[in-house]
Amino acid sequence: MKKDLQLGFGSQCIHAGFEAEQHRSHITPIYASSTYLFDSAEYAVDLFTGKEKGYIYGRFGNPTITQVENKIAALEAYNLFHEDGSPLELKALLHASGMAAITTLLLSNVKEGEKILTHYSLYGGTQEMIDKVLPSLGIETIIIDMKDLDAVERALQSEKNIALMHLETPANPTLQCVDIDALTKLAHNYNCKVSVDNTFATPYLQQPFKFGVDFVMHSTTKFLNGHGTAIGGILIGKDLEWMNTKVTKHHRLLGGNSNAFDAYLLNSGIKTLELRMDRHCDNAEKVASFLANHPNVDFVNYLGLVSHPDYTLCKQQMKHAGALMSFEVKGGFDAGKKFINKLQLCTHAVSLGTCDTLVSHPASTTHVGVARELRLKSGITDGLIRMSVGIENVADILSDLEQALCI
Ligand SMILES: Cc1ncc(COP(=O)(O)O)c(C=O)c1O
Repeated sequence: MKKDLQLGFGSQCIHAGFEAEQHRSHITPIYASSTYLFDSAEYAVDLFTGKEKGYIYGRFGNPTITQVENKIAALEAYNLFHEDGSPLELKALLHASGMAAITTLLLSNVKEGEKILTHYSLYGGTQEMIDKVLPSLGIETIIIDMKDLDAVERALQSEKNIALMHLETPANPTLQCVDIDALTKLAHNYNCKVSVDNTFATPYLQQPFKFGVDFVMHSTTKFLNGHGTAIGGILIGKDLEWMNTKVTKHHRLLGGNSNAFDAYLLNSGIKTLELRMDRHCDNAEKVASFLANHPNVDFVNYLGLVSHPDYTLCKQQMKHAGALMSFEVKGGFDAGKKFINKLQLCTHAVSLGTCDTLVSHPASTTHVGVARELRLKSGITDGLIRMSVGIENVADILSDLEQALCI
């Protein structure tokens, strides 16, 4: 691909990041090699000191991984420009999981004695990391309602050592959104960096760098891979110097790098991201409206329904409401269990963003490690069911839901 071509997002999903290798392979190959040859002792020294660019050892990087990192960086930067008109350039680091990407993000940006500011309703693993791992490293987290911008400002004012504001929007599984633009401006006024977990939206539906954030991360396990074939995570940053030094050092030393096979699967999956997301979103709209009008459904959290408190905010910062929703069946936990057990087409499993529709029960699975009080405060009620709407024919999804809701 010629570098200066002005391509649409879907074309970038296919072409961005690709570099033809010496054998002219059309598809990025799987480089299954743990180490790389040094042509001379001098060359080895130059590689290690950074004077020469090249591959050294699999934990530091791999050509398959580089191509997918560059693809995702291009998608997050798609059509974004610096104030002087030059295109935004981002650096991405692929990890073995979303949690590995979060670990690198937090440990490379927050040190002992510093604090993280975040909001309710985070992914269960992130919440557990904040509760159970970071305190022993001397890192405290303040959780507040980020809908209240005055409360956010008060926190930033009174706590001088908040190093990072971490946002997850839309959040898992309530679909709560927070205002990326307003919060980033506030944080930057207090010298605090901002990171966004963009897993639910993908760069197709939301580009946090448009609002000036410092980092974006994804669990690539979800929509980016799209087929449920590999666990992965990506951390993307706009301060290239910081990414290439401090963050890269943490990436390499924490050992959470990905591998060539998973990177290959991710690279293939992303090629159809735009197509899949359009279908996911169309199907989700129909499913949400069906559930919202069903007599056996108590309530539905879906950003595309005007009843969702963040309907307007979603319209401001996202291209579409996405494919995730959560709902409660009338009768709470027991009715929800019966509903899940009756499903025939929709798959009962955790995770999200795969071609098939996935249904799960957060309180007993992804959020089982989160204290019940905090869980309820985050809107994760005992009977809440999360649904990641797939790309099957929507009539088939609807008829499965209809038969399962006849309790
Ligand atoms: C929003 C969000 N962030 C992060 C993660 C963690 O990703 P992984 O399971 O790939 O480590 C998940 C996993 O479900 C998630 O839903």
